[in-house]
Amino acid sequence: MNNGDFILKAEGIYKSYRMGATDVKVLKGVDLCIKKGDYVAIVGASGSGKSTLLHILGALDRPDKGVVSFMGRDLSRYGGGELNRFRNKMVGFVFQFYHLLDELNVLENIFLPTMVLKGVFGWFSCRRIAEKRARKLLEQLGLGERANHKPYQLSGGERQRVAIGRALMNEPSILLADEPTGNLDSATGNGILKVFEELNQAGQTIVMVSHDERVAQRAGRIVILTDGKIRRT
Ligand SMILES: Nc1ncnc2c1ncn2[C@@H]1O[C@H](COP(=O)(O)OP(=O)(O)O)[C@@H](O)[C@H]1O
Ligand SMILES: [Mg+2]
Repeated sequence: MNNGDFILKAEGIYKSYRMGATDVKVLKGVDLCIKKGDYVAIVGASGSGKSTLLHILGALDRPDKGVVSFMGRDLSRYGGGELNRFRNKMVGFVFQFYHLLDELNVLENIFLPTMVLKGVFGWFSCRRIAEKRARKLLEQLGLGERANHKPYQLSGGERQRVAIGRALMNEPSILLADEPTGNLDSATGNGILKVFEELNQAGQTIVMVSHDERVAQRAGRIVILTDGKIRRT
């Protein structure tokens, strides 16, 4: 398989954090390949570096050493504008604590990434289409009746659905989710995992991080992050 067959490929990734006089070595040579249509779960103990790795895969952080390539192209060669576009358009992020904006209603939270992508003038001409797409996503996520609610008026599971809608708004090549059920009771978490399964069945590529083996079992492929490296199951 050549480089172009992978959506995202990480090779020899190293990352440490400087804490006073010592370096905390978190990632020590991580290799990981994500193909189109994959649903991969990265499991590991708390503190094993899962979030660090996910941030590096989504270009929210840079590795100290190693290469992350997207569709065969090294992310470290992207310019600032290209990187912003990559984070906004190619990747969708879902976090444990949702990170929704309380000042905006549900619909606005969902279409915000498109506003950012298009800029003020571009937004003016695509607003109607974007709103329509955001409403369709809301319907799909079972939140059709919540468009005008503010995030603080929603339950945890509903907030996470909104965050998933936001992540999908720009039709990302890959969805990156960091402990997406970590703040939810198991029944509500199951609902979120069901959403991921349906998305993956429809072709969405997903990488999910979890410390919980039972959550990870729901993915198509599990890799284990331990001692700073990936161990395959
Ligand atoms: N910004 C940071 N500065 C210093 N240490 C950090 C920072 N971010 C993470 N760490 C440390 O790196 C290790 C891995 O963190 P993290 O990637 O969040 O693990 P996980 O998501 O698997 O729980 C932990 O020991 C954590 O304390
Ligand atoms: Mg984490």
